[in-house]
Amino acid sequence: MEQRCHAQVDKKECGLPQVRVESYRGFLYGCFDADAPSLEEYLGEFGWFLDTWMIGAGNGAELLGPPSKSILDCNWKVPAENFVGDAYHVGWTHAAALEVMGGELAELAGNRADMPFDDLGKQFTTRHGHGFGVIHNAATSIHTDRAAYDQFMADQLPKVTKNLGQERANLFNGHWNCTLFPNNSFLYGTNTFKVWHPRGPHQIEVWTWTLVHKDMDPELRKKIQKGAAFSFGTAGTLLADDGENMMTCTYSNRGALTRRGTLQSTMGMNHEGPHPDYPGIVGASFIGETSYRGFYRFYKEILKAEKWDAVRAKDDSWDSTFENRDFWVNNLNTA
Ligand SMILES: [Fe+2]
Repeated sequence: MEQRCHAQVDKKECGLPQVRVESYRGFLYGCFDADAPSLEEYLGEFGWFLDTWMIGAGNGAELLGPPSKSILDCNWKVPAENFVGDAYHVGWTHAAALEVMGGELAELAGNRADMPFDDLGKQFTTRHGHGFGVIHNAATSIHTDRAAYDQFMADQLPKVTKNLGQERANLFNGHWNCTLFPNNSFLYGTNTFKVWHPRGPHQIEVWTWTLVHKDMDPELRKKIQKGAAFSFGTAGTLLADDGENMMTCTYSNRGALTRRGTLQSTMGMNHEGPHPDYPGIVGASFIGETSYRGFYRFYKEILKAEKWDAVRAKDDSWDSTFENRDFWVNNLNTA
């Protein structure tokens, strides 16, 4: 290396790498790739869904911090996949916690309740792997003491309908589990908002904020923040269940026998397609893997693409792997 005396050091050659920071509805995202699409282009049609609560009744939502931070010994894709669409783990993984929490969700423990799997919300996936599952009319269902929260949602709903229309008013009142590809997940209704920072292939650092509507009064926001810490905070009852799964999934997938297999992600396949009322691909039930397939489809696409231009070239054909194009045409009145 060339030797320089102190006066010859070029400070422009030093310092941290530049990061692009862009905002969507006041939520800030960073990206190190100068060639990547803008945040708005990257979110694409998913912004239509996010506007449900990022605009909502007018003032939208925000995060309460500072974020809590914790380490999990798992691959980043396990929690991203879990949040993007895993509805069917709840009765087993969270059986004990659901019993302790009580309320109407206690019936889900051990899958005792007779779940109407074919009529329980929907799943969505859009370009760039973003996706979520929604249970209709269940936004606040995780909260056992929720009268004030229910009243807030009821008061907001007419304004949301006026601002955004009936489809998104229905989503506003639903419970979402969501991942923005690659590593930002949230539970709308349960009020947890997370970033899964990879620290290598087998460890992540989890940052957790509380997601609230800006129009909530301070007392309700504080109550929700406390509830979110108990459920999905660093030592939260439900995150402890999920974290154990995330770590053991990562560990077991390193085993010789498991590595001989392939990823099974076919639940609800072909019970999905373009929908007249929503952008992207829509799966017929919350219990399914439509949003998983969207997540891994894009993961595979960017692993193979050498440059963003190769990704952009598929913007009009990305959803062709969802082959049942007429599913909703044939099932709109029955599904
Ligand atoms: Fe879970």
